[in-house]
Amino acid sequence: MHAADTSALQLPAMGLGTWSFGGGTYWGPQDQGDVDAVVGRALELGVTYFDTAEMYNAGASESSLGLALRGRRDRAIIGSKVSPANAAPAVLREHCEASLRRLETDFIDVYMVHWPIHADSIRHFTNDEAVIRNPPRTDEAFLTLAALQREGKIRHIGVSNFGVKQMDEVLALGVRLAVNELPYNLLMRAIEADIIPFCRARGIAILGYVALMQGVLAAKFESFDELPPIRMRTRHFAGRREGSRHGEAGFETETMAALQAVRVIAREEKLPAADLAIGWALANPAISCVLAGCRNLTQLEENARALTLKLSPTVLQRLNAATEELRLKLGPNPDYYQGASHARSW
Ligand SMILES: NC(=O)c1ccc[n+]([C@@H]2O[C@H](COP(=O)([O-])OP(=O)(O)OC[C@H]3O[C@@H](n4cnc5c(N)ncnc54)[C@H](OP(=O)(O)O)[C@@H]3O)[C@@H](O)[C@H]2O)c1
Repeated sequence: MHAADTSALQLPAMGLGTWSFGGGTYWGPQDQGDVDAVVGRALELGVTYFDTAEMYNAGASESSLGLALRGRRDRAIIGSKVSPANAAPAVLREHCEASLRRLETDFIDVYMVHWPIHADSIRHFTNDEAVIRNPPRTDEAFLTLAALQREGKIRHIGVSNFGVKQMDEVLALGVRLAVNELPYNLLMRAIEADIIPFCRARGIAILGYVALMQGVLAAKFESFDELPPIRMRTRHFAGRREGSRHGEAGFETETMAALQAVRVIAREEKLPAADLAIGWALANPAISCVLAGCRNLTQLEENARALTLKLSPTVLQRLNAATEELRLKLGPNPDYYQGASHARSW
């Protein structure tokens, strides 16, 4: 057993998103050989934070990462997440142990609650009506996490997708929050309004996920109809899109205009749009670690290139201006899947 180390968390500028690892319905099949190669190269490149969750491919992401880190676990910082449906004290303990086993480790560096703990959030994690009707209590969940931290099973406590009031509720328990993991990319800037200032003032590190907006910022396409439907469920896209549940008109015209403007800047700077998108997120000092999902070595090498980019203040300002109208239209709600009236983060 490792002693609990609660000293300040040192995060690299870029981390690896491992949602596709293990393969599953969302991302399709994922080769373990590619995972092993990506993880090994990521460690060489200084991309030493690995982001997973118990819900990614029903535990297969954690197992795949655990396998890839055999013999080199000590060089990695592992972040994993418990589902809010599994946050009742005894269940949380069991699920933490199961994650430890799948990850083949005896401690998790950063253990987060994946979404805020309430019925509307939990219903996306479980069909168990009893749990939805009677959700785990936030205070009990975080006091259990504090106990797991004292026992050395987790090193840092984190949240993901928590808004300002929800973070305040946790902090009021006397729990030290190391991180909040949130969506952040050129087309998803909601956290700039309230969450970034709140986290900065309290020393809570921000992990910015979907740096490429699930490939949308990297892909070459002329019409959104060319994208896989599963990547068009956010409030950017019309509520009529397959699998969408936000029920709003969406902002497809504004999203396409912002994307085209980013592509123009990329062409002028002679850079791929993906480099620009990741470089822009890396340049924001409020984001401690930028997460990009990489399924193979080519994507990793491409995305890690941005680590050596130094975008000028003019380019950063142009990118901000190019996406400002969309930022204002989408507003400060960081839940991109549900409209403001039933957002899960507040
Ligand atoms: N806490 C949360 O609620 C939450 C939510 C979402 C994600 N996350 C975390 O954040 C990580 C990153 O998010 P994400 O994986 O959803 O989205 P992302 O990083 O924006 O996009 C990753 C996907 O884009 C494609 N891609 C990656 N590099 C590319 C490149 N250079 N050129 C073209 N396409 C490229 C790949 O998919 P294809 O090859 O299939 O196109 C890849 O799986 C996740 O893996 C997960 O760890 C957390």
